[in-house]
Amino acid sequence: MVNVAHTLENLHTERRTFKPPASFAAHANATSYEYKKAGVDRLEYWREAALRLSWKTPFTEILDWSDAPVSRWFHDGTLNACDNAVDRHVREGRGDRVAFHFVGEPGDTQTLTYADMHVRVQQAANALVSLGLTKGDRVAIYLPQIPEAVVAMLACARIGAIHSVVFGGFSTESLRQRIDDAEAKLVITADGGNRRGQHLALKPLVDEALASHGEGSAHPGVCESVEHVLVVRRTGQDTAWVEGRDVWWHDAVDHQSAEHEPAWVEAEHPLFILYTSGTTGTPKGLFHSTGGYLTGVAHTHRIVFDLKPESDVYWCTADVGWVTGHSYIVYGPMTNGATQVLYEGTPNSPHEGRWWEIVEQYKVTILYTAPTAIRTFMKWGETIPNQYDLSSLRLLGSVGEPINPEAWMWYRRVIGGDRCPVVDTWWQTETGAIMISPLPGVTASKPGSAMTPVPGISIDVVDDAGRPVANGEGGYLVVTEPWPSMLRGIWGNRHRYVSTYWNHFDGLYFAGDGAKKDVDGDLWLLGRVDDVMNVSGHRLTTTEIEHALVAHPWVAEAAVVGAADEVTGQAVVAFVIVRSDADGIPADGDEVASALREHVRRQIGALAKPRTILVVAELPKTRSGKIMRRLLRDVAEHREVGDVTTLADSSVMDAIRSGLEGGA
Ligand code: WTA
Repeated sequence: MVNVAHTLENLHTERRTFKPPASFAAHANATSYEYKKAGVDRLEYWREAALRLSWKTPFTEILDWSDAPVSRWFHDGTLNACDNAVDRHVREGRGDRVAFHFVGEPGDTQTLTYADMHVRVQQAANALVSLGLTKGDRVAIYLPQIPEAVVAMLACARIGAIHSVVFGGFSTESLRQRIDDAEAKLVITADGGNRRGQHLALKPLVDEALASHGEGSAHPGVCESVEHVLVVRRTGQDTAWVEGRDVWWHDAVDHQSAEHEPAWVEAEHPLFILYTSGTTGTPKGLFHSTGGYLTGVAHTHRIVFDLKPESDVYWCTADVGWVTGHSYIVYGPMTNGATQVLYEGTPNSPHEGRWWEIVEQYKVTILYTAPTAIRTFMKWGETIPNQYDLSSLRLLGSVGEPINPEAWMWYRRVIGGDRCPVVDTWWQTETGAIMISPLPGVTASKPGSAMTPVPGISIDVVDDAGRPVANGEGGYLVVTEPWPSMLRGIWGNRHRYVSTYWNHFDGLYFAGDGAKKDVDGDLWLLGRVDDVMNVSGHRLTTTEIEHALVAHPWVAEAAVVGAADEVTGQAVVAFVIVRSDADGIPADGDEVASALREHVRRQIGALAKPRTILVVAELPKTRSGKIMRRLLRDVAEHREVGDVTTLADSSVMDAIRSGLEGGA
C-alpha cells in the first residue's frame, strides 16, 4: 500500500462553502429528515426505500447477514428489474413519457417513450428466448452507446439472464477473457459504432475473440460457451458472417411478439456481472443482486439527483459499459421514470461545443459527468460553453475520481451559472450505488469534498490498525455496515472476494481509497491506496498493463505507474527493460515505445495505452526484489526522487534520471 500521508500533502485546505439556494431546498426530494430517519433505524430506512420498487411477491426479511461478508437483502421477495424500469411506468399510465432522447454522433436522433421501450424489451426478450437463452445464462454485451445497448441489458434482466457488458473500447483480448470467465452463451454486438467521425468496427473483434478457440489455437477451449452472436446494424459497414452462429438483431428481434411475461426472480438473483480492475492482473467479475441493487440505485438517484420525473431532463454522460452507466443511466433513472439524453459520441465531434448544444436543445436540467471531462472543457476555454443557453440546468454531478477544487468551481460557475448545486458523488463498481455525496437541497458543499455518507450508509476513515481517525486526520476509507447495493461477490471466486475486501480490517469493507476527515468531519477522497490507477475515470491496474507489456517478445521487464496528469487525473507511464537479444528490435527508443503502446492497445484497449513509455537499463528494486514504484512515480511526475536507501543499488535512479534527461 502507498503511504496515505504522502497524498495528504497535496490536499487543499478549502474553506469555501456553498449552501443550496433556498428555492432549490424548498422543493428538494430529500430534506435533513432523511438523515434523521436513517439514523434512528437504518434497516427500516432501507425497507421503506425497497418498498418504492414494484415487487411481485413482497419480502418479509430486510437483511440476512448470517453468511457475512455476503449479504442478502429482501431475499424472500420476488421482482423483475426490467418490469421496474419499463413495464411499471406503462402500467401506471406513464407510457407516453419520453425515456430517451437518443443522439447519435453523426446527428441521427430517436425519441423513445416508455411505451416504445416496453415494446422493444419484450421483442428482444422473446428473441433471446428463441435463441435458447434462459434464466441464469450469461450474455456478453459489446455495443456502442445506442438504445439497443439499454434494450439488450433490460431484455436479459427480463428473462433472468445475467448480462456482462464489456465497454466497446476494450480489445479482443479483454473481451475474450471476459466472455470466457463468465462462460457467456450469447454475445450481443454491432457492426460498429461512431467515434470522432469514424466507423469503429466492433464485430471483427468479436470474431477474433471467438475464432481463437478450438484445437491448435493459442487458446484452445476458449469461448466455447458461445452459441450465437447477435449483431445490431449501426454503421452499415461490411461485416464478415459466420452462418449458423451470427444473427442480425433486426432479423431476430423485429418480428417478435411484443408480449413477454417477465421472469419473476428472487431478490438475490444476480442481475449482472461487471468486470473491473483489481490489484492483480486479472479483472474481477463483480456481480450484483436484483432487489438490493435496484433499491440502492433508485433511492440514491432520487435523493442525490433530486429527480422530478415529470419535468426533469437528466443526462449522465457515462458509457453504459461502466458501472455509472449501469446504475445511473439504466437501472436507477429508468426505475424512477426519468427522461434522459443518451449520446453516442465524444464531446468534440464534430465540434467542441457538442455537449452544450445538446444541453440547450433538449433543455437538460441535471448533468452527471466526470472530472476528466470538466478539466478538458476548462482547457478548451469557457467561451465555448458560453455560446449556448445552459439556463435549463439546475443540478450538476461529478463522479469517477477526486475533483480538484478548481475544476469544481469552474463547473459550478461556467456550466452551472453559479446557481446549480454540485454533487460530488463517491462510489465504486463494488458499491453499486452512490455512497458519499452532498444532498443537493440540504448540504452546504465544499469544492472538492464529497462531504458525508448518504443516509443509510455507514462509512469511516481508519488508521493502519483499523481504528477510526480523528477529525483533521487521514487514513483508509471503509464501510462499516452492509448496504443493499453492495456487490455479492466475485464471479466464481468467493475466496478472492473475502481476501480483497474483508481481510484488511476485521468486519470492515476496505474500499481501496485514501480519505481525510476535515475539521468538520467532512470527507475528502484522496485517490487509490493500492495499485489501481484512475485514468480519465477508468479503472486500470499497474499489473494488468505490466502483464501486457512483458507478453511482448522485446520486453524483459516492465513497471507501470500512474502519474498525475492535468486532464486525465492520472496517466499511464511505463518503464521497460528491453531484451538485448530480441529479434528485429529497433535501435530507436521512440520506435520501441510506439510499437509497445500499440501492443498494449491490442492487448487491453485504447484506454490503457501508456502516455509515456521509457526504455531504461534497470528498474529500482529493494533488496528483496520488489520494484519501488514510489520512486518511478517521482520520476514520472518530475519530482525530486525520494528516499533511495532501501534500494539494492542506489545508482539505478541516477541512471534512469540521466537517461531521461538525455532524450526520451
Ligand atoms: C474513484 C466509478 C474521488 C475511487 C463509480 C474509487 C472517486 C474508484 C469518486 C471506483 C469521487 C469514484 N471522488 N474518487 N467522487 N468516484 N472515485 O469502480 O478511487 O470505476 O475507488 O466506479 O473511482 O471506480 P469505478
